[in-house]
Amino acid sequence: MLEKLSKWKSSLSSQEVREDIDLANIPKHIAIIMDGNGRWAKNRGLPRIAGHREGMKVINKVVRKANEFGVEVLTLYAFSTENWKRPKAEVEYLMKLPERFLKKELPNLMEENVKVRLMGSVEELPDHTKSAVTEAVKKTENNTGLILNFALNYGSRSELMNAMKQIAKEIEMGTLSSKEVSETLLEQYMMTAELRDPDLLIRTSGEIRLSNFMLWQVAYSEFWFTDVLWPDFNESHLSEAIAVYQKRARRYGGV
Ligand code: FPP
Repeated sequence: MLEKLSKWKSSLSSQEVREDIDLANIPKHIAIIMDGNGRWAKNRGLPRIAGHREGMKVINKVVRKANEFGVEVLTLYAFSTENWKRPKAEVEYLMKLPERFLKKELPNLMEENVKVRLMGSVEELPDHTKSAVTEAVKKTENNTGLILNFALNYGSRSELMNAMKQIAKEIEMGTLSSKEVSETLLEQYMMTAELRDPDLLIRTSGEIRLSNFMLWQVAYSEFWFTDVLWPDFNESHLSEAIAVYQKRARRYGGV
């Protein structure tokens, strides 16, 4: 009964939030740190991987809703360069999720005109993961709707360092002059080269940190943190985040 009541309550507030949203001011790029899968599972006496499986199911809902709102890019932090430190079985499970997700969802993503894109050191992923994600990128390359950008084996510091190394190499070879080094140039060497910066960054599970995620790109993003654990995240939370974003005044350092 209590559960029913709270479901009813959350759908009511979702309706309220919807009415609050200005469709002319939707954040064009939303980046999400999907956190709390392990705690979600622990709270239920389940193994951590059960939380990841449940977390995977949320992606579909969020993609659909974001697409419906007209969001242009949705970046999801699915696996960080630090996540390799987790127990082997958990890492193996996480590496199976993109395949599982795409096997089930690729036809829907095609139907919804979603373009899959990757950000991270994809070449270091196990072959089965790599082939699933690269196939999804290939199959959806001509789609023109929402860009679903999976951050897989991604770390912001290593992204920045690689960009700097490439620039240094070009200078060394004489194909670039140090005078040409600028913010715009650096951005061309980043894994987000053809994407705009996130307008809104969401992190679930109550943690208030960036965890090596898009450090350069979120310089002027609005942040929205929620205690909701990722497997419990749904369309109404996304709407809530967008409604809060729309109430903020973005000044980019101006007045
Ligand atoms: C963080 O929660 C979550 C992850 C490291 C993995 C996120 C992955 C998914 C949601 C599924 C990915 C699916 C695809 C299709 C790529 P945590 O394990 O750190 O949670 P905790 O902080 O509660 O332990």
